[in-house]
Amino acid sequence: MSELHVINHPLIQHKLTLMRQTETGSKDFRQLLDEISLLMGYEVTRDLPLEDINIETPICKMVGKQISGMKLAVVPILRAGLGMMNSLLELVPVAKVGFIGLYRDPVTHEPVEYYCKLPEDVDKRIVILVDPMLATGGSSRDAITMLKDRGCKNIKLMCLVGVPEGVKTVQDAHPDVDIYLAALDEKLNENKYIVPGLGDAGDRIFGTK
Ligand code: PRP
Ligand code: URA
Repeated sequence: MSELHVINHPLIQHKLTLMRQTETGSKDFRQLLDEISLLMGYEVTRDLPLEDINIETPICKMVGKQISGMKLAVVPILRAGLGMMNSLLELVPVAKVGFIGLYRDPVTHEPVEYYCKLPEDVDKRIVILVDPMLATGGSSRDAITMLKDRGCKNIKLMCLVGVPEGVKTVQDAHPDVDIYLAALDEKLNENKYIVPGLGDAGDRIFGTK
């Protein structure tokens, strides 16, 4: 069964409180999202498999550790997921990157696919799918389905803010996918926005409204 990890480290909570505030502008919003993604990335990558490697320090030979086997792919859901991508690439510079384009239909709130470009060997990689908002869960659910349709077997979902409804939607459809959040908020409003949330993540990252 999928696990829900709410990474409520004090630094993350502090930075998220700043992000939520209406008066926080795009420049600071992006910077804070970068910083939180870096902190969350530390937890999301906690169980990466390691292997031994023989090395020499200036003093002696030793057996060190290196990340083994499956390599990583970072896949942001466009647009807002882009705001979480760079920090993960800072942590794992050799990760490959894929993109999934989905937007929520303004009337039905159902996700609509408009783009998908993934690394050729994505099926052999551990995929970290990133999107700040897990609202109805439809976008993340469908993005995971798209990854599985291309053979991915090891997928983690990293979001910033979620609600129980969105978590349930993803867990029901994909019980094998662990979910990482910085905060589990209360509910959705009548427009399917997260309450209290932080508003429209894409608009706040890119300053489009
Ligand atoms: C937002 C957000 C998620 C989605 C979450 O994207 O970035 O992708 O909504 O909602 P859901 O859980 O109900 O599917 P949006 O569709 O607004 O597109 P954007 O990132 O391009 O602004
Ligand atoms: N998408 C957002 O950007 N924010 C929400 O609260 C819900 C969906």
